[in-house]
Amino acid sequence: MSSERSKKPHLVCIPLPAQGHINPMLKLAKLLHFRGFHITFVHTEFNYQRLLKSRGLDYCKGLDDFRLENIPDGLPPENNRGVLDLPALCASMPKNSVEPFRNLILKLNGSLEVPSVSCILSDGVMGFTLRVAEELGLPELVLFTPSACGFLGYMHYEELAERGYVPLKDESWLTDGYLDTQVDWIPAMEGIRLKDLPTFIRTTNPNDIMFNYNVVQISIAFQAKGVILNTFNDLEQEVLDAIKSKFPQLYTIGPISMLCRQLPDTEMKLFESNLWEEDMSCLEWLEKRDPQSVLYVNFGSLAIMSSSQLSEFAWGLANCKYSFLWVVRADLVSGSAEIFSEEFMEEIKGRGLLTGWCPQEEVIKHRSIGGFLTHCGWNSSLESMSEGVPMICWPFFAEQQTNCFYICNKWGTGMEINNDAKREEVEVMVKELMEGERGEDMRNKTMEFKKKAIDATNPGGSSHTNFERLIEDLLYLGV
Ligand code: UDX
Repeated sequence: MSSERSKKPHLVCIPLPAQGHINPMLKLAKLLHFRGFHITFVHTEFNYQRLLKSRGLDYCKGLDDFRLENIPDGLPPENNRGVLDLPALCASMPKNSVEPFRNLILKLNGSLEVPSVSCILSDGVMGFTLRVAEELGLPELVLFTPSACGFLGYMHYEELAERGYVPLKDESWLTDGYLDTQVDWIPAMEGIRLKDLPTFIRTTNPNDIMFNYNVVQISIAFQAKGVILNTFNDLEQEVLDAIKSKFPQLYTIGPISMLCRQLPDTEMKLFESNLWEEDMSCLEWLEKRDPQSVLYVNFGSLAIMSSSQLSEFAWGLANCKYSFLWVVRADLVSGSAEIFSEEFMEEIKGRGLLTGWCPQEEVIKHRSIGGFLTHCGWNSSLESMSEGVPMICWPFFAEQQTNCFYICNKWGTGMEINNDAKREEVEVMVKELMEGERGEDMRNKTMEFKKKAIDATNPGGSSHTNFERLIEDLLYLGV
């Protein structure tokens, strides 16, 4: 044990335990570590064990000044933490993780091996950490991992309830066109309908866990010293202006992935936290394809679909005759073991590659990718736009519907496919995306955003400058 405690500022980074939240938080942690901060990165015990199991014991080793810790999420071990368990997770952590988190900070502060904690960097939807920060007299900043437009949607949940939009009067309102209602009073959201707002408003229950959870998270975020967003000004300026009127201490530092390009490989490889095992061989498969000839299909880490929806996507892809790489997570389809027929497998031989999880960022930037059929998770949307790849949007839940609205109606970088699209529609849209005029137009618009994202993250650009400001402010808070 060292007798002299390091004087580095010490950040404790804690993401919501889901892939789309872990990824940007871990990247931000690496950027800050590279800039001289001591980092403790906190997984849940469940994810930590899962990562240890798939990556081996070496996974947790870390460095003197970058270490992993874990706390329980309070759910039983047999719970698989899928999307249907999100309400249980959101109900459990604020009750069961507060004490372990407090104990962790106290343990760190009592140890001579690490500097005392100077600041907590928490996920914007892990509000319970702020209670601990306040109690221990520590400053806290929050990283909201969704888009700014999604964040703006959540910011208006309370007002939606006050104005009587939520809860819905009965279940029929979900299907009878009520969700097409225009909401014309939210600034910077011109043209938005109820169905484009984050989906937790689709409830008839005034005590709905997810709706109320998000209301509470926004109110807690007001107490944080700052809000960090993974977006860039040129993409969401109007929305950001609307957010800034309520959250003046805003740091837009995205795309965080692009900012990470300044990091050496060794830093990037630290604690890789894919919860599924990546199939790297798909990159070799892509190598053999022509430029922009492959459609990439991936519905992220949480989306689930019925076997009949999967079958429509499958036959649409088979019938349009393009090459495709489709990531079918083991738990993508609800309640079915046998998912693809022999006939389908025969039909796609030589041009369709199915896999369970891929190195997505490398896949998207591959020259052979011509389009992306996506669920519009914010990381996926941003990764796609950062590489100039146009999208077909099949939003599943949360703020993915809001991302889809902006992608299709404001940015022109994608087009929406019906939630219950049949194979003919899939076929027509894929053809349009890959070779049609609309596809070309969307590709051009996406390329423009790619250039703007590069400018934003280069020295002197808005995200780069905001990141430097964030470092200064964190150093100041740590004194
Ligand atoms: C989503 C969205 O983050 C978010 O917008 C919403 O609030 C909650 O859930 P997710 O389904 O995980 O999360 O989607 P996404 O945001 O796209 O994140 C997935 C991440 O996993 C991306 O960084 C992507 O690169 C990575 N990934 C995904 C892989 O590395 N390989 C895969 O095969 C699939």
